[in-house]
Amino acid sequence: MRDLSEERLADAVIERMAGIEDDRARRVLSALVRHLHAFAREVELTEDEWKLGIQFLTKTGQISDGTRQEFILLSDVLGLSALVDAMNHRVPEGATLSTVLGPFFVEGAPELANGADLTVGVDTSMAPGEPTWVNGHVLTLDGRPIEGAIVDVWQTRPDALYDVQDDDDAMQMRARFRTDAEGRFYFRTFKPVSYPVPKDGPVGGLLSLIGGHGMRPAHIHAIATAEGYRQVVTHIFPAGDEYLDSDTVFAVKDSLVVDFLPVTSPEIAERLGMPSPFLQVDFDFRLVRNA
Ligand code: BEZ
Ligand code: FE
Repeated sequence: MRDLSEERLADAVIERMAGIEDDRARRVLSALVRHLHAFAREVELTEDEWKLGIQFLTKTGQISDGTRQEFILLSDVLGLSALVDAMNHRVPEGATLSTVLGPFFVEGAPELANGADLTVGVDTSMAPGEPTWVNGHVLTLDGRPIEGAIVDVWQTRPDALYDVQDDDDAMQMRARFRTDAEGRFYFRTFKPVSYPVPKDGPVGGLLSLIGGHGMRPAHIHAIATAEGYRQVVTHIFPAGDEYLDSDTVFAVKDSLVVDFLPVTSPEIAERLGMPSPFLQVDFDFRLVRNA
């Protein structure tokens, strides 16, 4: 293999990969090389641009650690995470749609009894937060309740930060709930707020170049899991958020946008142990049976 032309170089690399035994790995790597070369040829990549790209990826690796995953953030702002999610979670009409996991999920949130209060211990001196009652069900596609399903939820505090963005290890605003015989789960929280994705790393630089606001519309993250059903990783978005149509990570789906409605009855507030007035959101998960 000598004197390879610009056009032939990709083929030469792909031919060298012919020895990869795993069919899938060979296919994925060959396509990656084909598209990477096509990209470089299309833009006539200069040496300075190539160096800039290498530096960008180096910084992306250097800032990443056990809790900071800048590569996932890069994939998110390029829309790749949303694409991979969409291709891997095609579901029948009526099933709850999935969306991106994001970088702030923590394994092992405490399982709390239904009715628990996620706002306990949250410092609200800077941002008071709007008391919210979340009421939902986990159901089959035809609307039958699933008992014993687990709904794992997490969200930012009213100060627009996740607990893992603090220096300590304390968990806040995250828990798991188990559905009752009616498939129901319920808890007290704050209405989620919109927040900026981390911008102090190389991806922040990319966002400045793009000129985007770098904001995510408010959301509660949720993972619903039930034996015999496909797990769904998703968000609950409050209607009316100003960033719903310009989410930095392209993760909004209309069916996940719901009203957080005011409840003004002091009797209902008292029965639920809520202040009056408060907001209520109803959200049902509809899961697809495992094949
Ligand atoms: C999040 O929703 O937590 C998130 C998702 C993608 C990038 C940054 C944050
Ligand atoms: Fe989030």
